[in-house]
Amino acid sequence: MKTLKLILSLMMLTFLAVFPVQAKDMIVKEPPKSLSKFYPPESKEPKWIQQMHKMSAHFGGVFVNLKEKDFENVDKHADKLVEEYKKTSEMVPEWEEYFDIKAAEEFAAAAKTHDIGKAGKASGKLGKTCGKCHGDQEISVWTKFHWPSFHKIKVTDPIDEKEVEFGKYMKSISSSMKGVTVNFGEGQYDRAGKALKVFKTRYMELKSTCSKCHTTDDVKLFYVGKDADTAFSGLANELNAEKPNPGNFWKNVGLLGKTGCKNCHLVHRTYSFIKEAWEEEDKK
Ligand code: HEC
Ligand code: HEC
Ligand code: HEC
Repeated sequence: MKTLKLILSLMMLTFLAVFPVQAKDMIVKEPPKSLSKFYPPESKEPKWIQQMHKMSAHFGGVFVNLKEKDFENVDKHADKLVEEYKKTSEMVPEWEEYFDIKAAEEFAAAAKTHDIGKAGKASGKLGKTCGKCHGDQEISVWTKFHWPSFHKIKVTDPIDEKEVEFGKYMKSISSSMKGVTVNFGEGQYDRAGKALKVFKTRYMELKSTCSKCHTTDDVKLFYVGKDADTAFSGLANELNAEKPNPGNFWKNVGLLGKTGCKNCHLVHRTYSFIKEAWEEEDKK
């Protein structure tokens, strides 16, 4: 028994060594250039997404009508599904292998028996071709075509009035913050107080960037809203106090760090990391 286990695990090891990329690894690769033709700005309409909606509507249409015993429409949707599926398979040559035309035709044939059990069974194989591509590609496509780039945004620094790239501005926000915390740690409250003014001014200036991507002001309730104001007032209170209380000071640093920096990073920065990797790849 033991030797069998050993052999099996050795086999597993060699298997893993030969295929370093396992099924569960996720690769976020830049989508093929040929896909860009079906998205703005190259195409006026997001044609790829429209194609997805067509397939999805016909796929669903088969089952809705099977349940209603509206067999004429079952047949129509089944034929249209095969037609649109074929059409989609020709749009992006690099993705051709995700499609299984035979599976689509078999599903259509099963649907046309008007036996919902048979249709359900045949739908599995076709549905898997949709799911496989979605699993591999959807995040990449969202990152590329749905996320605006922070790397194109410039911010005018209110302290020295210089216009800098967003990433560089972040670095100066970060060092302004350190000017506050480092001086506080050293007991240099006067310097910390001056640094706080610079830090707050730079931080709140971030509000001017939101409108580059957002159309409503509601989003400014987050990251740069009331929690940030509360934290900055709390910090100023401690620094102006006769005897600053470190507990209160660090509590407010934590509040800003979490509800300001960290939460904004969790929402916005992930996509920036991916875009940055692709941009570096493109430069090579
Ligand atoms: C608008 C939301 C937002 C807020 C609020 C925010 N950040 Fe950022 N930060 C970003 C984004 C987006 C990036 C990635 C920029 C890029 O890819 O060029 C970033 C990048 C950074 C970087 C890396 C800069 C680089 O290019 O190396 C640092 C450091 C940083 N932020 C610190 C902070 C700190 C400290 C705070 C809070 C005091 C903060 N950020 C608040 C959105 C935000
Ligand atoms: C070759 C890859 C690929 C195949 C095969 C594929 N899809 Fe998609 N699908 C995508 C991508 C990429 C997106 C994300 C598009 C976006 O959000 O811009 C998507 C998105 C969708 C959406 C969501 C659209 C939206 O508005 O967010 C639906 C619904 C959909 N697909 C249905 C299907 C169905 C049904 C099938 C199979 C019959 C299928 N897809 C096969 C790549 C594929
Ligand atoms: C480079 C573009 C960009 C900038 C600049 C930007 N955001 Fe966003 N943000 C997005 C995108 C894209 C989403 C995803 C959903 C969407 O489009 O609203 C999002 C989502 C959000 C959300 C989640 C709720 C929602 O509306 O979807 C909040 C809150 C938010 N942003 C706040 C801010 C604030 C506050 C600022 C300015 C300090 C800011 N954002 C700057 C692109 C940006």
